[in-house]
Amino acid sequence: MSEECSCVVNGRNYNELSTRDLQVLFSETEDKYNELKNLGLKLDLSRGKPGPDILAISEGYMDKVTTYKATDGTDIRNYGVLDGLPELKQLFSDLLDIPTDKMIVGGNASLSYMHFINVILALYGAVIDSDDGTVTTFSAPWSTSETKILFPVPGYDRHATICEDLGFTLIPVEMLGDGPDMDQVEALVANDASIKGIWCVPLYTNPEGKVYSEATAKRLAEMKTAAPDFRIFWDNAYAVHHIYEVHSAPDILRLCEAAGNKNRPYYFASTSKVTYPGAGVALFASSDDNIAQYKKHMNALTIGHDKFPQLRTVEYFHDADGIRSHMWRIAEVLRPKFDIVTCYLDRELGGTGVLNYTKPLGGYFVSVNVPDGCAKRVVALAKEAGVVLTGAGATWPYKKDPKDRNIRIAPSFPTLSDLKTTMDIFCVCVKLAALEQLLIIE
Ligand SMILES: Cc1ncc(COP(=O)(O)O)c(C=O)c1O
Repeated sequence: MSEECSCVVNGRNYNELSTRDLQVLFSETEDKYNELKNLGLKLDLSRGKPGPDILAISEGYMDKVTTYKATDGTDIRNYGVLDGLPELKQLFSDLLDIPTDKMIVGGNASLSYMHFINVILALYGAVIDSDDGTVTTFSAPWSTSETKILFPVPGYDRHATICEDLGFTLIPVEMLGDGPDMDQVEALVANDASIKGIWCVPLYTNPEGKVYSEATAKRLAEMKTAAPDFRIFWDNAYAVHHIYEVHSAPDILRLCEAAGNKNRPYYFASTSKVTYPGAGVALFASSDDNIAQYKKHMNALTIGHDKFPQLRTVEYFHDADGIRSHMWRIAEVLRPKFDIVTCYLDRELGGTGVLNYTKPLGGYFVSVNVPDGCAKRVVALAKEAGVVLTGAGATWPYKKDPKDRNIRIAPSFPTLSDLKTTMDIFCVCVKLAALEQLLIIE
């Protein structure tokens, strides 16, 4: 915990206060809110962007590339190398323990891989596991009948956007402490062949910062699915984004292979939040058949990605340990930001009964639940006071949080001082919205 923030818990449970006490508290809170609002601030806690202090850690990254020649002799200025430079594959392989022949690297956005594989599935269907491995067969294109995808909630809005874009129906499933509620998932996928996939952020989930357990991943790999072409979209976006201590994601590729479901997982990662979101490199990994299917369609899309960021990444980091030590430097900048958020939440709202959250283990976000029916109001109050928060409902499919209670806090961008002001405003807004509800103030 940061030194200047002594987290004395407030301790007055709003639900146990008399109407008179609530009225006094409301009036005090409203005064504080108006005071903060009158400062005319303009602050943003909405998107998980690295702040300038984090970007500065990758100083020099853009200057790298001392040669135009890749290790295999490729001139990186020219066309070609559809699946990416071998030295970048090796770097990712060492870092993430994925065989080099099971991956495609390049492009700056893993979201592009996620979107394109879903387009492929919609238009051409998925590879079906064949017992003897001699023939590759495909299921019917996913767009030819209703396709449903499981979405652990709260989750990452852009995963939902990909499915919404392609007309797939999203089914929310509950997130537990170590991944989605597998009893619920197994029951759903066993009986409904139109459920064809699940989104997973295995390490430091967006937005709760939770970590999938080995047992959860094993159940995902082994579970019986009515759909023969069921897929796991394994978005390891925060693979090396530790804050307090090192955790790791279960090895979904090997677990699925061991379970006889080698074509089930698609694995995604990128260096967006390692170097720069605007100039990093991304990775897509899967079984041989899935990679072959992807490359066939990718071949129609491009002759090859920009190879400069690929070589630049290798020259800048040299090896996997280079990335790991770089990520600790980033963690040192992010940790005080997370400490401020959790400290304000504990100090200002602990014991009030109007907010609960679990401290994230790593990643980029803090997820909180305010009283049911209050999230939109908190976001609106914050906006009026000059603080942009991620829209209420953003962590749910179709942006509809049925309980209107979840809010995602993204502390990476602001300075420490702005973050303190922002959290001050946020906590006041939560108190005000909760008190309005308890006092039934329209
Ligand atoms: C879970 C998750 N996946 C993917 C992304 C974006 O990844 P990329 O920049 O590689 O497209 C983000 C960004 O916030 C994210 O939180």
